[in-house]
Formats: sequence, structure tokens, C-alpha cells
Amino acid sequence: MNKEKSLIPFYTHGITMAPMAGVTDSAFRRICIKLGATCLVTEMITAAGLSRKSVKTKKMLRYHPEEQPLGVQLFGAKPDDFARASDLVTPLGFKFIDINAGCPVKRVLRSGSGSSLLGDIPRLLEIIRVTKENTDLPVTVKIRLGLTRENPVPDNIGLLAAEAGACSIAVHGRFRPDFFSGEVSKDGIRRIAELSPVPVIANGDSTSVEAAISLRDDTGSTGLLIGRGAWGNPWIFRGISGGNPNPEPGELHNTIMEQLSMMMEYIPSPQVFHIFRGHLVQYFRGFHGAASFRKRAVSTVSLEDVDIVAGEADIAMHTPAEDL
Ligand SMILES: Cc1cc2nc3c(=O)[nH]c(=O)nc-3n(C[C@H](O)[C@H](O)[C@H](O)COP(=O)(O)O)c2cc1C
Repeated sequence: MNKEKSLIPFYTHGITMAPMAGVTDSAFRRICIKLGATCLVTEMITAAGLSRKSVKTKKMLRYHPEEQPLGVQLFGAKPDDFARASDLVTPLGFKFIDINAGCPVKRVLRSGSGSSLLGDIPRLLEIIRVTKENTDLPVTVKIRLGLTRENPVPDNIGLLAAEAGACSIAVHGRFRPDFFSGEVSKDGIRRIAELSPVPVIANGDSTSVEAAISLRDDTGSTGLLIGRGAWGNPWIFRGISGGNPNPEPGELHNTIMEQLSMMMEYIPSPQVFHIFRGHLVQYFRGFHGAASFRKRAVSTVSLEDVDIVAGEADIAMHTPAEDL
């Protein structure tokens, strides 16, 4: 196991759409892979729920054949739950199992899951170990720099995770109390990358092509996980691989309609419009008049509403401000 050889190079040495609960569902993942993401990961899925064979949780494992390569992310607190869950997900066509040790949300923390595992490294390592014992898929782990600033994870966490069976480690360069704000510590990621025998994937604030590339290169990481910078802007993936980082004329409109119609395959109306509004407001950012489109986005209730506002936003995006 070393940084050069990887069973899952599309993840360890690629540009992956970061798992985002409530965002990276099947439709959005299909959009990301089409626009150049090299790898996808499901939203976090409860290992305890899978272990209980909860029907609702099992539904979250559904994916479309176009969503490959795809990893499945599990969260939980108990090694036994991970053992049962990894056994259950192994035959389903995922390319790897990712363990969530970064979620900062209180409810998740209280259950001893997510970033709470960073305060109990032996338990995190045990979870990696049992997951690996119950699957023949590669196992990866996603962490933050620590549960508290005073108690950072050891710099050799990559070595510890590798010894437990992980083949890579993704590092969000923040501590749990930072949630998603404040500056990302490239130093913190670099210190872990320097000592890690397995590939390190850098994560945090890749809001532009330049920011993403420097996050990877300045930290000595091999790959990137891009979260919020791709929400409403999946063209960032194309930009990182040298293509146009912005939508071509017509592309914003088409992408929005494509994502919505894919979502309508599995979410009934009117619920689908309620959920899609969250995506729509993200698409309407960074161009002249975007605020007025966001305002209209939150009252869309039909395919036709979305079609009209997305078409007009596309035109506005490509019209120089002085011509409006
Ligand atoms: C709405 C939202 C949902 C998220 N859900 C997950 C999740 O399910 N699993 C996970 O590991 N991280 C999750 N994250 C964290 C992201 O994967 C990522 O680590 C974080 O947003 C930092 O990267 P970014 O600055 O590129 O967004 C979520 C973040 C947000 C904003």
C-alpha cells in the first residue's frame, strides 16, 4: 500500500464530488460525473439503519448505472453496525466504502458518530478494521483535523488508518467546531499528508478552479474532494481538467432541466419542487441580477415555472451587465 499504487485511482488521485447529505442525490451525482468529476460518493448513510435493514435507509443505496465510479459512505458509532452494513453493501456495485469521521452536526455527534470518532481514535480504528474484515472492497475514511482545536488528530493518522485497513484518507482542513466556516488549514492537511503512507485527499473551500488546484498541490495531496464549490456550479469539474469552468450559453438552462427531470424519476410532485428549489438558488449565483432569480426560484411549483426562470437566468448570465 503506497501513494503511487491505488486500487481506486479515480478517487485517490481524482476530483471527487464530496458527499453532501440532502445535496448529492442520484440526479446531482449524474450531473457531476457528466461534467468531469472522476468519482462520486453517496450521501452519508446510517450503518445502524442498514444493520436493522431499515427500508427507508436501504432506499438511499439506490443509484443509476451512469453514477460510476461510486463509493458508499457509512456513518455510525458501533463497530458491529459497520460490520453488518459493510457486508450488506458489498455486493451492490459500489467501488469502495467510505467511513464518515467528519460530520459536525450535533445530532450525529451525540450518537457518537461523525467527527465524534476523532475524539476516540481507537474506536475509529476499530471501525475501519471491522469494516475491512467484512468486505473485499477498498475502505477509505474521511476526517477533519480534530474534534477540538486543542485536541488535533495525530499527524500520523494516515499511518494508523492504513494499518487498520484504510487505503486512503480524505482530510477536511477544519476542526469540528468550525463547522463549514473559517479558513481551511492547508498546513494541517500537509502535516498529515507528509506522514501518510496512503494517498491523502484534500478537502475544503475549493470554490474555484485555482483554489482547488492549489489546495491539492500546496498540501501534497494526491486528490481532491469538492463540496459546496460544486453545488450550483458542477462546471468546476470541467474547469479543473482544463475545460471551460463556466456554463456555455444554454448550458445552465439545460443542466437545470436535466437534473430536475432526473429527480422526478424518483421523487413525486409536488415534493420534488420543494427539494429542487434548494438546488435552483445555488445555480443562480455570481451573475448580474442573480438575486432576483433566487427570489423567483423559491416560489417555483411546476416544471414550467422552473423552465421559464432557468431559461431567463441563462440569458441574463450571458448578457453583459451594460446591455441589460
Ligand atoms: C449540506 C452539507 C451536507 C454535507 N453532508 C456530508 C455527508 O453526508 N458526509 C460527509 O462526509 N460530509 C458531508 N458534508 C461535508 C462535505 O463533504 C465537505 O467535507 C465540506 O463541505 C467541506 O468541503 P467544501 O468546503 O468543498 O464544501 C456536508 C456538507 C454540507 C455543506
